[in-house]
Amino acid sequence: MSRSTLLPLLASGDFRSGQELAEQLGVSRTAVWKQVNRLVEESGLPIESVKGKGYRIAGGVDLLEAPLVTAAMSPQSRHLLDRLEVLDTIDSTNAEVMRRAEAGCAPGLVCTAEQQTAGRGRRGRQWVSPYAGNLYLSLLWEFGQGAAALEGLSLAVGVAVARGLEQLALPTVQLKWPNDILYRGEKLGGILIEMNGDVDGACRVVIGIGINVSMPAAAAVAIDQAWTDIRSSAVGQVPTRNRLLAALLDQLLPLLAGFEDTGFSRWREDWLAFDAFADAEVVLHSGTTTLAGIARGVDDRGALQLQTTTGIQSVYGGEISLRAAS
Ligand code: BTN
Repeated sequence: MSRSTLLPLLASGDFRSGQELAEQLGVSRTAVWKQVNRLVEESGLPIESVKGKGYRIAGGVDLLEAPLVTAAMSPQSRHLLDRLEVLDTIDSTNAEVMRRAEAGCAPGLVCTAEQQTAGRGRRGRQWVSPYAGNLYLSLLWEFGQGAAALEGLSLAVGVAVARGLEQLALPTVQLKWPNDILYRGEKLGGILIEMNGDVDGACRVVIGIGINVSMPAAAAVAIDQAWTDIRSSAVGQVPTRNRLLAALLDQLLPLLAGFEDTGFSRWREDWLAFDAFADAEVVLHSGTTTLAGIARGVDDRGALQLQTTTGIQSVYGGEISLRAAS
């Protein structure tokens, strides 16, 4: 019996007796008990066991389901999607999609997972990825004109994420150059783009997005920066992760399909509307060097325009972080 057979039976949050679960799964009550313990250990989900009542996950759990995602997507983006796979536990959805790309998988593949055991963030950081709380997705796309045509792609992806959240009437987020998603100055999500192929010709790109939806406090202790999640920022009801994923794909897939035709210039004005640091005094850290100035948005290539004492400097991606000056 695997986690994916037991968990959906407990997802509603109602008590299910050991006997009932055993009958539905065709196993003994002892096997159910063992599986519940393993599930708690591996997922960290708070499964209660109450004598005379059975088992339940208080508050229920919102599980990812591919048919619910595709049903909520627009026909246009469904057409651009090759395949959507919902994985239970994986090291990293980016790593998995990269492996699939190397094995010749078609572009348009999207992998999402309930949990990542080695979620990757930018600059070698880990991405805290507890079970069934957040959204972790990676998308495979192919571009024909080499890496140069992809300048600003990660910024444009940020616009798609911000729009996807707006589509669900969630509070407006801000984008922090180069690709953080913030809400009231705290990190709500991030984007990690990885490439493989010919820098001058056809290349395959993995677009990884992590959104904190309902971050359990126990997992959050491992996050080393100010963070937030949709649960704490949403005014009304938190949308299900299936609806959230559908809204993100509705924005992302058409953007990717048209990106090489227009480049980032088509998205620049949109990005500026979400710019968290517009006209703010900032300090750029790049390796051991720092550069102070005023952030003046981005150019058509997605380079940060930093106004310094010697004039405007264009700063491209890489190992650069941006912090509001104290
Ligand atoms: C960042 O550091 O801001 C980027 C975070 C990107 C996290 C996502 S979660 C889905 C995908 N798989 C990964 O291992 N990382 C990205």
